Amino acid sequence: GHDIQLPGDAGTITPAEVRQTPPFDNPGLREIEPGRYEAVMLGIAWIFQPNEIRIPAGSEVTFILTSTDVIHGFNVEGTTVNGMLVPGQITRITHTFRTPGEPLILCHEYCGIQHHTMYGRVIVE
Ligand code: CUA
Repeated sequence: GHDIQLPGDAGTITPAEVRQTPPFDNPGLREIEPGRYEAVMLGIAWIFQPNEIRIPAGSEVTFILTSTDVIHGFNVEGTTVNGMLVPGQITRITHTFRTPGEPLILCHEYCGIQHHTMYGRVIVE
């Protein structure tokens, strides 16, 4: 219930080879069919790459996520998108953004001295 999705079956990855391993060798937003997107994003101390995605309201986005280094959090404020980026683990979270706005993507797991600067944004137009 409550759109809670646990990691586990989305896949594993060798942390040292993230940048050579598809789809993480080409991070970014892709439209896979009208109104449906995949957002491949990396957590890197202390940024998200990319740190911004732009979609039309009503879009369904599947975030495909991992970390290149330490454990990061991934929360899109005001939504049920709330996951962990764990080295070696792929995290998939799907959400439909119905309301225009610019919610922040926040790292909500302490990941080092610049943790508080690690954020991004979903721009829902
Ligand atoms: Cu990444 Cu806190």
